[in-house]
Amino acid sequence: SAIKSSLIEPDGGVLVDLVVPESERGLRTTEAESMPRVKLTKIDLEWVHVISEGWASPLRGFMRENEYLQSLHFNCLRMKDGSIVNMSLPIVLAIDDETKERIGSSTNVALLGPTGDLIGILRSIEIYKHNKEERIARTWGTTAAGLPYVEEVITPAGNWLVGGDLEVLKPIKYNDGLDHYRLSPQQLRKEFDNRQADAIFAFQLRNPIHNGHALLMNDTRRRLLEMGYKNPILLLHPLGGFTKADDVPLDVRMEQHSKVLEDGVLDPETTIVSIFPSPMHYAGPTEVQWHAKARINAGANFYIVGRDPAGMGHPTEKRDLYDPDHGKKVLSMALGLEKLNILPFRVAAYDTVEKKMAFFDPSRAKDFLFISGTKMRTFARSGENPPDGFMCPGGWKVLVQYYESLQAE
Ligand code: ADX
Repeated sequence: SAIKSSLIEPDGGVLVDLVVPESERGLRTTEAESMPRVKLTKIDLEWVHVISEGWASPLRGFMRENEYLQSLHFNCLRMKDGSIVNMSLPIVLAIDDETKERIGSSTNVALLGPTGDLIGILRSIEIYKHNKEERIARTWGTTAAGLPYVEEVITPAGNWLVGGDLEVLKPIKYNDGLDHYRLSPQQLRKEFDNRQADAIFAFQLRNPIHNGHALLMNDTRRRLLEMGYKNPILLLHPLGGFTKADDVPLDVRMEQHSKVLEDGVLDPETTIVSIFPSPMHYAGPTEVQWHAKARINAGANFYIVGRDPAGMGHPTEKRDLYDPDHGKKVLSMALGLEKLNILPFRVAAYDTVEKKMAFFDPSRAKDFLFISGTKMRTFARSGENPPDGFMCPGGWKVLVQYYESLQAE
């Protein structure tokens, strides 16, 4: 049932939905029972979730080789009509030699979750080589040891990739008390329509919200109102899939975000908080394109980007892995994202004179304090408060409790 809507069009024109209707579930289950099985890891399942709800529209399954090569070499996919859509991360399913052997010449496979339950079917499959080094070098621009997604996912994975059309038997749930935050692109679009939003601005994040982040979001709202929009809605969209070990876990972040809304740092009336189910690659300018593209599919037509999006410290050297300005520069020029309004922001830091988070002013650089994640952890561990105006007290308290619980372990 297509909803009448003035929202931005999903990539490829139609939002992909690969969850089979409930009435067909029994039949498909029986069918799947006769197929060779492929066991999914926790992170494979996160990608199944992402693909099945259409975040990667028009992608309809794990990538076949032609899609993989386009993604890896062009960061884009070419559609049948000649148009292109952005697709900067390869979304692929790896299998080992033994699984490949077991699949043999079958055209369809059943997908089992990490606990062995039937999740779905991959149809008209194609198996091709998984050249890990090439994939890593092209996605991250480095093969340095210590890239979190590489160590967790790619290194242990098999030497083959299997692509095909995905069908999911029922919506993916995590039963972690946070499923009500996991709105699909279709549900988000409906919600934006219900609210009669005339502009939707998305904020991707994987960290707790400090007042610098809030500055970006509130400044965007002000600019949109100035541009003449009457009802801009903020999509506050924390990433919910795999993150590296020293990032703050999702449940703690969700609690922290709730406090930020309760404390009035962000306006609950004009904000929708939801979880973006994708795993994190930490691939900087390459990954930020994926982050933005997925939000088009969820109905956002404005995208906020600040310092070093999807970045991290270099795993072996004392520097950022990526130039902190490249994310916003690349995003502003990215192929296939022309219809998305990119809102680039300067870095925000603590202004020790004004005693608040403000946009960095290089002419009085010495007045500014950069409070990194590491510094925040040090504050929280030592029971020291960050400077006044860095983060709302309710939000800070959640972090202190989290870091205290870590110390107790
Ligand atoms: S990310 O991996 O999701 O990009 P993070 O949660 O740290 O990481 O950042 C969310 C968004 O806020 C990104 O657009 C990022 O560029 C921006 N951002 C984070 N910290 C700052 C800062 N101090 N100044 C400006 N923008 C920032």
